[in-house]
Amino acid sequence: MYKIVSIPGDGIGPEVVAGAVAVLKQLSTKHGFEIVIEEHPFGGASYDLHGEMLTEKTLEACKQCDAVLLGAVGGPKWEKLPHEHKPEAALLNIRKELELFANLRPAKVYDALLEASSLKAEVIRGTDFLVFRELTGGIYFGQPRGYDDNRGWNTMVYDRYEVERIARLAFEAAQKRDKKVISIDKANVLEVSQFWRNVVHEVHKDYPDVELSDMYVDNAAMQIVRNPKQFDVIVTSNLFGDILSDIAGMITGSLGMLPSASIGKHHALYEPIHGSAPDIAGQGKANPIATIASVAMMFEYSFCMPDIATEIYQAIEATLASGLRTADIANPGELSVSTTEMTEAIVRHLGA
Ligand code: IPM
Ligand code: MG
Repeated sequence: MYKIVSIPGDGIGPEVVAGAVAVLKQLSTKHGFEIVIEEHPFGGASYDLHGEMLTEKTLEACKQCDAVLLGAVGGPKWEKLPHEHKPEAALLNIRKELELFANLRPAKVYDALLEASSLKAEVIRGTDFLVFRELTGGIYFGQPRGYDDNRGWNTMVYDRYEVERIARLAFEAAQKRDKKVISIDKANVLEVSQFWRNVVHEVHKDYPDVELSDMYVDNAAMQIVRNPKQFDVIVTSNLFGDILSDIAGMITGSLGMLPSASIGKHHALYEPIHGSAPDIAGQGKANPIATIASVAMMFEYSFCMPDIATEIYQAIEATLASGLRTADIANPGELSVSTTEMTEAIVRHLGA
């Protein structure tokens, strides 16, 4: 029995999570394993109900389950709240509380969508890499931080154990892929990056079968759009990973396609890379694929059932190959389908 906490959240969150839940139910019937899904409020939705973005009850439920499935949080309604009460702060809070130190963001180009990218098909065809973004340290959490009328300040700091554990995960993942890790930093300017680099190289000694190289973050931003096929596994700090994973996401055509996994020693959370898209919320226009693919990552990393993950990816690919497109991935002038139609087609391709 698998216990999943679902957090639909704000904006298009509820629509895309509904798609993922439909996929979970189909898999449970098809393979005969029991899945219990418990829904909890988070973000703006929780603030409106309880005056808090992250309640003790939601947090406790996340700590007690096997995996968390999150839609998206935030929207214009809550943007004016003070910094520490914004939905973004709640997201950082849940990451920290669950100790989700590794954020995995795959950048994989689907053949059916080659034309949806803003880059040329020949540049991106065959792109398949995985970003390991450190998620609970660095400048996002470093002290001191603050601002007054005349200054603003944050601190980028890493402890050895924080770099070691994310580096290990990246090397282990590379061992199962093309055995190439690129560590991305700004060691030509930042001491904290020089430290990062030193530690990654020390950890590398335990993984001699993996090739390690370093790249400065500005160059990496350029290389990802110039020749994305050169990457296999990327490992990088919190802020650099935030930026690079958006660049990586865009080359694949649409952020609406990309899943993510945030994992720690004891907990895991799966969510689409895209945000709450308040402009299209409630209209049935959202692409559910990123959230459905996040369920695939859940089977791979939390439930250790890579075959089921493959099944989900195959159903997504078959659906795309049949020509179905939500608005974000449709070519100009092409007809698009709704969130529910896309979901139903994927469920059908999963079979019974
Ligand atoms: C992400 C987002 C978040 C981040 C924001 C919403 C706090 O951009 O998950 O990439 O910066 O980590
Ligand atoms: Mg981001």
